[in-house]
Amino acid sequence: MRVVSTVAELRSILGECRAAKKTIGLVPTMGALHNGHASLVERSVAGNDVTVVSIFVNPTQFNDKNDLMNYPRNVEADCALLDTLNADIAFVPEVEEMYPEPDTRVFNFAPLDSVMEGPFRPGHFNGVAQIVSKLFYAVEPDRAYFGEKDFQQLAIIREMVRQLSLNIEIVGCPIVREADGLAMSSRNMLLSAEERERALIISRTLFKSAEYAREHSLAATKSFVEEAINAVDGFRLEYFQIVDGNTLQPVGEWDDSNYIVGCIALFCGKIRLIDNIKYKEVK
Ligand code: PAJ
Repeated sequence: MRVVSTVAELRSILGECRAAKKTIGLVPTMGALHNGHASLVERSVAGNDVTVVSIFVNPTQFNDKNDLMNYPRNVEADCALLDTLNADIAFVPEVEEMYPEPDTRVFNFAPLDSVMEGPFRPGHFNGVAQIVSKLFYAVEPDRAYFGEKDFQQLAIIREMVRQLSLNIEIVGCPIVREADGLAMSSRNMLLSAEERERALIISRTLFKSAEYAREHSLAATKSFVEEAINAVDGFRLEYFQIVDGNTLQPVGEWDDSNYIVGCIALFCGKIRLIDNIKYKEVK
């Protein structure tokens, strides 16, 4: 695997690949890689001739300076893992490489970004769109892989590709969980042992709510989750929303949509965690 740190070198390598008619898959990450990331890389390796994995802790998407400072970084271990997964290129730029001058672009994803993460993390999705669009322009992949763990991010990336008329297939990949159900996240390693134990309640509650949903109204299911989470000492719920999986707008009744997802964000101690569950998906 080649480790590349400049856009120029990346372009030169990928130019040769493209000339040889090779397809290119891109997996954007912020590093501290775990099996959730690995599942995306495996999908890309299986579906493309060349896989590029970017590792870049993108400052413009952090609305909390402490979160940016404390974000786990471990590029050496990440590259070792990517090598075993048969990724071809790890793109690991410095901040100055991606932002030679401040990025002043303002995206408008309303109403997709006016709900859930939007109000709680102002500017977050604008920063995500800035970096992902730059990665798309630098790599020009045929396909790019994103996890359903960040459900709203995936919807916004699809919308960005539509708005920018990019010819990139966005592949959504299912949430990978720890054996006990906790959704894998780079932030999990910041949890104390006690918080890690408590965090289990999040996925357990979501799974239980899917059973509860079979016999109860949408409103009752929403309350079921909110009450269970609010009852836990050391949790601070930001939101639990039951939304249409495409528009991300809140849904009133189970019959109102064929694709319904419950999305949650909460603080477990000082660590912010998100998760989601599909209640209904008719394809
Ligand atoms: P990061 O949190 O590192 O996640 C990179 C990709 O891995 C995202 O598409 C995310 O949804 C996916 N992912 C994370 N945990 C997962 C899990 N448990 N199961 C499946 N997929 C999972 O998301 C970002 O970075 C950044 O916002 C980024 C898109 C790289 C832009 O900076």
